[in-house]
Amino acid sequence: MNGKEIVQKVRQKMKDHHELFARAIPLIASENITSKEVREATLSDFSHRYAEGWPGERVYAGCQHLDEVEFICMDLAKEVFGAKFADVRPISGVVANLVLYSAFTNPGDISMSISIPAGGHISTGPLHTSKGNYMGGTAGAVRGLNVKYIPFDRKGLVIDVEKAEEAIKELKPKLLHFGASVFLFPHPVKQLAPVAKDLGATVTYDAAHVSGLIACGHFQDPLAEGAEAMAFSTHKTMFGPQHGCVVSSNDDEEFTNKIKRATFPGMTSNHHLHNVAGLAIALAEIKEFGKEYGAQVIKNAQSLAKYLETEGFTVVAKDKGYTKSHTLLVDVSPLQEKSGLGKDIEEALEKADIILNRNLLPWDMFEGRNYLNPGGIRMGTSEITRLGMKESEMKEIANFMRRVVIDREDPTKVAKDVNAFRSAYQKLHYCFSSNEDAYKFIEIY
Ligand SMILES: Cc1ncc(COP(=O)(O)O)c(C=O)c1O
Repeated sequence: MNGKEIVQKVRQKMKDHHELFARAIPLIASENITSKEVREATLSDFSHRYAEGWPGERVYAGCQHLDEVEFICMDLAKEVFGAKFADVRPISGVVANLVLYSAFTNPGDISMSISIPAGGHISTGPLHTSKGNYMGGTAGAVRGLNVKYIPFDRKGLVIDVEKAEEAIKELKPKLLHFGASVFLFPHPVKQLAPVAKDLGATVTYDAAHVSGLIACGHFQDPLAEGAEAMAFSTHKTMFGPQHGCVVSSNDDEEFTNKIKRATFPGMTSNHHLHNVAGLAIALAEIKEFGKEYGAQVIKNAQSLAKYLETEGFTVVAKDKGYTKSHTLLVDVSPLQEKSGLGKDIEEALEKADIILNRNLLPWDMFEGRNYLNPGGIRMGTSEITRLGMKESEMKEIANFMRRVVIDREDPTKVAKDVNAFRSAYQKLHYCFSSNEDAYKFIEIY
């Protein structure tokens, strides 16, 4: 292929991708879709610029408009999270976590976080060595932290508060880092933060998944409950562009300087100014539409869980009402003989244009399963909520899933019904301009 053909091919692939998402049911818990205004920001000239340093104190010229937008973004982040300080420069959730590690720990310090099988994220995980290679989670492999796990009640899907308290007292961590990727229920920040702080730890919270729900006032409020700083992605339940952020309840100069310096020059040079502009717009949307959006996301997750149970699936944490967030986790191991495990089911559903991901269950490793073909599938309801879906649509989605996974109907046949269903949900909700097709490919030339 010559250069021009490659350009055409890449453009065509992007168009195909847009078409796929316009006809499919998007259920990946870490994803969302941005408004027209946010997308405009991400396409703007902001994406070509550098502005190293703190706004107003840059070491580049040409930053006056960028600076003003960044101040607006910081003010909005402080407002929606009830924070005293915000740094909107980390370029992703992983980078925001690294900012916290580098601000509040030294290599070799003990940190405590949730293990991956219990729903934790790779960025909070320990170092592993395999055949002489160093690999593993960011906290261990990049910051050199000695990562210990917060005790977790595997069947109850919650942190075991009593055991966690004992472990904190015994280990005396430098950092107690809450948060998870399978985040069904709030973490016991209120109970455990004072224990850790008394022993000299900094208490932080990774809100990558739930930042949108927190900003909307529909999940726990970690800063008010005792977390001193919170790191998060801006594009999961929060419907901003792909970016990161750190906010804190502490505006003491010594404390905030640690975060600022860890972000720049520590973790960033260019901090993706187009995404800072997009984030400012998304935060304004959250302020305006967040209450309604967050409530519906959670109602949809609970209702999808309930209908999936009715259709014959085993949704975890039934005794606790399945979830208090956007996420639900299904144990597919009872279906193994007929339908396979997480990977097989993810692939079958993908053929029906239902897009979700396989996921480890907290007890998988003990039953001989691993992340390649685990016993679970995970779903999130943020994106389908933005498409205007409510409880009755959750019933239809659960039924499509039953037809593919339990009835073993030809997924390509189910896809036709999925596509017909999706055709009625093309517009974006909870934003200022809701009359545009959500997945329209924007052509500039
Ligand atoms: C708990 C948690 N932290 C951090 C991240 C990383 O976020 P990002 O992809 O924005 O770097 C994720 C991503 O899914 C996550 O689930």
